[in-house]
Amino acid sequence: MSEPPAWPSGIADDHTPIEYSVAFNESEPDRLTLRILGEALDTVPSATTNMSAARRFIQAQAGRFGLAVSRFDQVNELFATDDPRGDFGLWHSMVFRPGRRPEFKVYFNPEVKGVHRAPGLVAEALRRLGLEKSYDTALEYAIRPGELGRDDRLTFFAVDLHDQPHARVKLYLSHYNAQARDVVRAARAVAGIEADEIAEFCALAGGGTVTFAGRPLVGSYTFLSGQDRPVGYSVYVPIRSYVRDDEQAYRRVTGLLERYGFDSGQLDRAIDAVARRPLRDGVGLIAHVSLRLGPPRPGVTVYLSAEAYRVDPPRPLLPSLAGEHPELRMAAVRPDPTIARSE
Ligand code: TRP
Repeated sequence: MSEPPAWPSGIADDHTPIEYSVAFNESEPDRLTLRILGEALDTVPSATTNMSAARRFIQAQAGRFGLAVSRFDQVNELFATDDPRGDFGLWHSMVFRPGRRPEFKVYFNPEVKGVHRAPGLVAEALRRLGLEKSYDTALEYAIRPGELGRDDRLTFFAVDLHDQPHARVKLYLSHYNAQARDVVRAARAVAGIEADEIAEFCALAGGGTVTFAGRPLVGSYTFLSGQDRPVGYSVYVPIRSYVRDDEQAYRRVTGLLERYGFDSGQLDRAIDAVARRPLRDGVGLIAHVSLRLGPPRPGVTVYLSAEAYRVDPPRPLLPSLAGEHPELRMAAVRPDPTIARSE
């Protein structure tokens, strides 16, 4: 850790190749799930060698934990290329629940062969998994007028590495310059969930932000075979782009947790385990907050950065505006590196 990051991982803003998250579950409010999102790095990291390292990692875990890799194998070669583009090659997450073996998830990059190839790649991957109808429904609701690949982008294609009934395929879209109503509409692709909840969630997490002009709102669909529509929807608010510091993010997130009936003391334990500084001394420890609607496990998830390499300083308050609408001006204060994403 005394060296700079060996690879500019996109997992976290400071390039730490892991990120923690704690999931609060409606069905079992006292039992949190711990997840770790990670990027496997080769000893000589590059876009290409890291992809191989990630596949080796998955193979090794599959052997160790007896993971079912059939879904992975069905789509893996679609996302394989000698010349990976975009922000990452292959990520994975590990999901820990009390008293159980860890579960694994793999994230493919739909834009790995270039932005314009993403819709076709994902369509083919979902066709192979028998989910093409759900995909059509999802896009119908998620894409704003205009073209897929501009303001609405396919960000992750994720498969579970197990074959239990709750095994999922998930598709994530990033919505640049979106408003809450855009993700509410996206959520309406799913039947039987309270899509309107999302508006309130975004308003509270964003502190009244109307247009999310900093880091994008992200939405994900959960697909289950045999269905014509996605069965679940989650929205991820990159709260760190819309606060001055983590103290402010913390207040919003604990407010949200309490609104959904969770004990925010559990979040305190997680933060204490990760943070090495007072919350008001930086921004980005609390990276995202998400609301999960529908199966498999509705609830709220809070994403915590490791900040292994760097702490981002709090955003300065604009003196002329200070005190008036402190929640509303945050996004404009610091340029956001993720807006101009490379292809
Ligand atoms: N750091 C990246 C981003 O903020 C990727 C990422 C990590 C992410 N965790 C996430 C994206 C949770 C959405 C939700 O975009």
